[in-house]
Amino acid sequence: MVSDNIISLMNSQIAKEQYAAQLYLSMSAWFYTQDLEGIGNYFRVQSKEELMHADKMFDYVHDIGGTIILQDIPQPPHEFLNAQDIFEKALEHERLVTKSIFSIVKAANDEGDFATTSFLQWFINEQVEEESSASLLVTKIKMVKDNPSALYLFDQELAQRVFTPTQ
Ligand code: FEO
Repeated sequence: MVSDNIISLMNSQIAKEQYAAQLYLSMSAWFYTQDLEGIGNYFRVQSKEELMHADKMFDYVHDIGGTIILQDIPQPPHEFLNAQDIFEKALEHERLVTKSIFSIVKAANDEGDFATTSFLQWFINEQVEEESSASLLVTKIKMVKDNPSALYLFDQELAQRVFTPTQ
């Protein structure tokens, strides 16, 4: 039996994942505008991953007999200082998402809700990976941002990313 409190937290988390999808799509658009389509592709794939995260949570709320209540998604920013600013904001956002997931895990632990803690384990692991990738990209963009040839290669590298749905 999952409490109304946890169901409400999960519904909010669905909205946060959907917001992350919007944010990354907006970041993607910025890079497309700069003709850095490889980096744009990277963020577009990231946006799809966030929608997949929301989808997993949608299914979970349904599976536990909760009522799925979708929320308003705020408009993401569309103006950024530069490429480094975007990568730094992406890392910052992942850290926020991690905190939010940890707070649901904490609430579920406090309630002895092992179903939700078990479900969220996948997300805890995912956040470790996402923060690690985002942090690495901040380092890389700092290395290449002032060197057009290096930036070109970085863009080519990120063009390789493809969306792979996970179970
Ligand atoms: Fe769904 Fe990037 O966290």
